[in-house]
Amino acid sequence: MSDNPLDNKSKAWSALFSEPMSELVQRYTASVGFDQRLWRADIDGSLAHARMLAAQQIIGPNDLADIERGMAQIVSDIESGAFEWKLELEDVHLNIEARLTQLVGDAGKRLHTGRSRNDQVATDVRLWLRGEIDQLAPLLVGMQRALVDVAAAHTETVMPGFTHLQVAQPVSFAHHLLAYVEMFARDGERLADARKRVNRMPLGAAALAGTSYPLDREAVAHALGFDGVCFNSLDAVSDRDFALEFSAFASICMVHVSRLAEELVLWMSQNFGFIDLADRYCTGSSIMPQKRNPDVAELARGKSGRVVGHLMGLITLMKGQPLTYNKDNQEDKEPLFDTVDTVRDTLRIMAEMVAGIQVKADAMERAALKGYATATDLADYLVKKGLPFRDAHEAVAHAVKVAIQQGVDLSQLPLSTLQGFHASIGPDVFEVLSLRGSLNARNVLGGTAPAQVRAQIARHRARLA
Ligand code: ARG
Repeated sequence: MSDNPLDNKSKAWSALFSEPMSELVQRYTASVGFDQRLWRADIDGSLAHARMLAAQQIIGPNDLADIERGMAQIVSDIESGAFEWKLELEDVHLNIEARLTQLVGDAGKRLHTGRSRNDQVATDVRLWLRGEIDQLAPLLVGMQRALVDVAAAHTETVMPGFTHLQVAQPVSFAHHLLAYVEMFARDGERLADARKRVNRMPLGAAALAGTSYPLDREAVAHALGFDGVCFNSLDAVSDRDFALEFSAFASICMVHVSRLAEELVLWMSQNFGFIDLADRYCTGSSIMPQKRNPDVAELARGKSGRVVGHLMGLITLMKGQPLTYNKDNQEDKEPLFDTVDTVRDTLRIMAEMVAGIQVKADAMERAALKGYATATDLADYLVKKGLPFRDAHEAVAHAVKVAIQQGVDLSQLPLSTLQGFHASIGPDVFEVLSLRGSLNARNVLGGTAPAQVRAQIARHRARLA
């Protein structure tokens, strides 16, 4: 057995302990099964710490050289799969440190000078999460680009806009899709904003109070690409609000995904028939030969549940923890990892699926003609002829009632009938009652008129370029 105390951890932590952990307690407290995912961040953090220790003459140049050599070996072993992760060494930090000491001896034991696993793990999670954020940001851009590209082909495709899932007013399919572009754009802003607070370095806080060694924290922060250090050592080791913020971003983003997925499912159903999704995103039924089910969209909707669940888990994890570090915090990792994986895969697959959507413009238009979607336009027409809006609203309600009784659209009522609702109605009313007339009329900034929607597409394209 080596003289490395970490090798004997299964027996006891130190001379202070008189009995080893039971197998159950070891399994219960260990995190190496999942936190080994942090290994690269852990090694990057250790190397930056060691280089600073050497620069500050806290360890010697030979120690640093040994540590660098040992870590290079560990990196290649982990990458090749040869590294042996040991449950009895509890977590990623102790596994790597123990192996380093095994490889290089005393230098390995000096690495932990002026450091604790408390500031180490907080630093690792932040480094890792920053890397993941930087991979998620372009996926959000990809999602927006896919939506904008489909929208660009459909500024003149009319569909019913809904409120209460009842036909309300005609909108263009492009306008509808651009609503989601706005949502994902805000998600991108939230992610970028959360990154600022993720990218602060806890290292140097040590266990909780700082350390008596003359560390140069700013230098380590700079070497690791942090925007700065955490200025309170107690806060540095104990809070995980950066993870909560990320998780909140992820939840909101997944709720947006879920709403879009829900619409894809609805639109693909026989009752809407607005779109078709490519076969590669659908599955069949084992019993009903006619079925093509939008499984990918349904799963994207369903997976929002676990991401929101993780936010609840993380926020509850923090509630009631006294300062500073508590082992509770070890529970931050699995939800965070799963959140990142879920959001990443979901954004990718949704962007692909949206890009390949098949739009059935005729069906959309037929649906828009069904629900008296241009009734508001008739009311607006009467207002322009001098009627107060409330009176116009009432007159149109009578017109809709008659149209329903006759089973026709407003635009199919003869002029003479329409004039019965108000004498000021003239032959120009039929343009107003058309879907395209209705669309073109909403030529206000942010409205559905094709000219406005094209301007928004140009703005998004410039922004996403
Ligand atoms: N595995 C631990 C975690 O994830 C590392 C920090 C342990 N610190 C301690 N004092 N037990 O939080």
